[in-house]
Amino acid sequence: MIVITGATGTIGSEVVRQLAERGVKVRAVTRNPEAARLPEGVEVVRGDYLDPESMAAAFDGAQAAFLVGQVSIETSDTDTALIAAARDAGVPRLVKLSAIGTGDTLLGPFTTWHMPGEKAISESGAAWTILRPSSFASNTLSWAAPIKAGQPVPNMTGTGAQGVVDPRDVAAVAVEALLSDEHAGRIYEPTGPQAISVPEQAAILSEALGRPLEVSEIPLDQVRAAMVAAGRTEGFAERASAGNRFVRNGGNSTVTRDVERVTGRAPRTYADWVRDHLAAFTA
Ligand SMILES: NC(=O)c1ccc[n+]([C@@H]2O[C@H](COP(=O)([O-])OP(=O)(O)OC[C@H]3O[C@@H](n4cnc5c(N)ncnc54)[C@H](OP(=O)(O)O)[C@@H]3O)[C@@H](O)[C@H]2O)c1
Repeated sequence: MIVITGATGTIGSEVVRQLAERGVKVRAVTRNPEAARLPEGVEVVRGDYLDPESMAAAFDGAQAAFLVGQVSIETSDTDTALIAAARDAGVPRLVKLSAIGTGDTLLGPFTTWHMPGEKAISESGAAWTILRPSSFASNTLSWAAPIKAGQPVPNMTGTGAQGVVDPRDVAAVAVEALLSDEHAGRIYEPTGPQAISVPEQAAILSEALGRPLEVSEIPLDQVRAAMVAAGRTEGFAERASAGNRFVRNGGNSTVTRDVERVTGRAPRTYADWVRDHLAAFTA
């Protein structure tokens, strides 16, 4: 039985789906089991990182666990306690979702966000794997509202290209790491097949929608204010704008072959992701 935390989220929900499809027994953790939409046959349990007893019960009897512990840059470290709970429950194999750029000092505040969790998992005594994916293709779902309202796509990262990755491919790498000790002690950086910028992503989306899309460049000195105006806290805006500066300067253009190396097939392109999610952008 494999425990999946963050089971209702972008990556965790895909990990649940892919494991269930392969006939693996899955226990999905959420703070709100009644609201969770998960595949038939999947055990759903209540668990909250801020309630250690609930996590001890959730991990009980697991052969492996997928850990999505750092859920918001607005909160402090939730990873370390989560990893301790998995370790204390004796889960022998742990896979942690981290992020690309961890440890790269040029990234600013994001650099250290996953560090306590990476350290804790590598010292946990379990067979561990860390995934540091690039920017998710699904981040562009935030463009759906402006696009549907006829407004421009906001561009906070200029022509900075990123190895945009399909969440299904991140999940596929996680699934392999959850099912075999072959990946123990490895840090993978799942990326898409090419580095692309926001204007290039918008062009792909525009072609799929069959209509032009305007892209509005937000100058770096206005990014922070734009985020606060959109309802984000000052702390979030500060960290996120440092991340945007890093991308804008070409810091996140890394493309790896890790998806193919681990899963045996090429990563999906951004165009593949758009094709399968086009309905989200149409009225
Ligand atoms: N977006 C990107 O481009 C990107 C790129 C690289 C890495 N990442 C990493 O991806 C991670 C986020 O993964 P995601 O996007 O799949 O997550 P997500 O879609 O934001 O979902 C968050 C999940 O965490 C659960 N959760 C939140 N607080 C919880 C708590 N206190 N106790 C238990 N569960 C809790 C939520 O479950 P319930 O609400 O059901 O309880 C939900 O399933 C972050 O660590 C980030 O660094 C993101």
